[in-house]
Amino acid sequence: MSEVVLETKDLSMVFPDGTQALKNVTLTIKKGELVSIIGPSGAGKSTFMRSLNMLNKPTDGQIVFEGENVLKARGKQLRQIRRRIGMVFQHFNLIKRSPTYQNVLHGRLGYMPSLKGGLGRFSEEDTRQALEILRRVGLEDQAFKRADELSGGQQQRVGIARAIAQTPSLLLADEPIASLDPSSSENVMTYLKNVCQEDGLTSIVNLHQVDFAKKFAHRIIGIKAGEVVFDGSPKELTEGITNHLYYSK
Ligand SMILES: Nc1ncnc2c1ncn2[C@@H]1O[C@H](COP(=O)(O)OP(=O)(O)O)[C@@H](O)[C@H]1O
Ligand SMILES: [Mg+2]
Repeated sequence: MSEVVLETKDLSMVFPDGTQALKNVTLTIKKGELVSIIGPSGAGKSTFMRSLNMLNKPTDGQIVFEGENVLKARGKQLRQIRRRIGMVFQHFNLIKRSPTYQNVLHGRLGYMPSLKGGLGRFSEEDTRQALEILRRVGLEDQAFKRADELSGGQQQRVGIARAIAQTPSLLLADEPIASLDPSSSENVMTYLKNVCQEDGLTSIVNLHQVDFAKKFAHRIIGIKAGEVVFDGSPKELTEGITNHLYYSK
């Protein structure tokens, strides 16, 4: 039986303006799974992801991450939980003027005294590790270039490298390929999947492209109007279910 990394129980989120973005989301996610969350725009995918590390505080329900009650965590405990959750963003969120390897090192900031990290004083060992991680995403030859000199797909691979540098136990990627062309998307998803597999890392990837979810995920969760309406393997996601998810009221 595989180890459970994350559980949500009846997770609900109502924004102050009354928008119900999540309704009783109950899920169990196991170690090493690559789970893709799909669903139309506004379905609640980002809200779900942001709830997991309390960027949005859910209004009801429970989140248990590696045995810890996330919604009860405060201060140091919350920081330590967030350190174990790596994030990859649609728009990469790199420091454009900094070299690639320094962007990767920012993934390690959670482990450093803040002053040292803030001044960009990384040890030789940190730099060596950053280069090793860049090698894993095929960017060893881009390490000393400014981040904004890289292509979109390369920048997202830096985003993945930065998340990995944090040595997380859960990787969250919110629409990581939404700004990329199909061939870069394919390439980025391949690296993301391989890196997770090599490290036994659990990942949740929000995607609105069903074809990419089917190709790369072990498991697909369909969300519609804040509710889970599908949870199964790519094979089980039929055209009928996809149509229901995206096109029916
Ligand atoms: N800060 C907010 N305040 C009010 N409503 C919000 C806020 N953020 C998101 N929403 C609403 O919550 C719903 C889910 O949004 P979101 O999680 O961004 O969906 P998705 O990522 O699937 O496109 C939408 O109706 C959206 O308008
Ligand atoms: Mg979103």
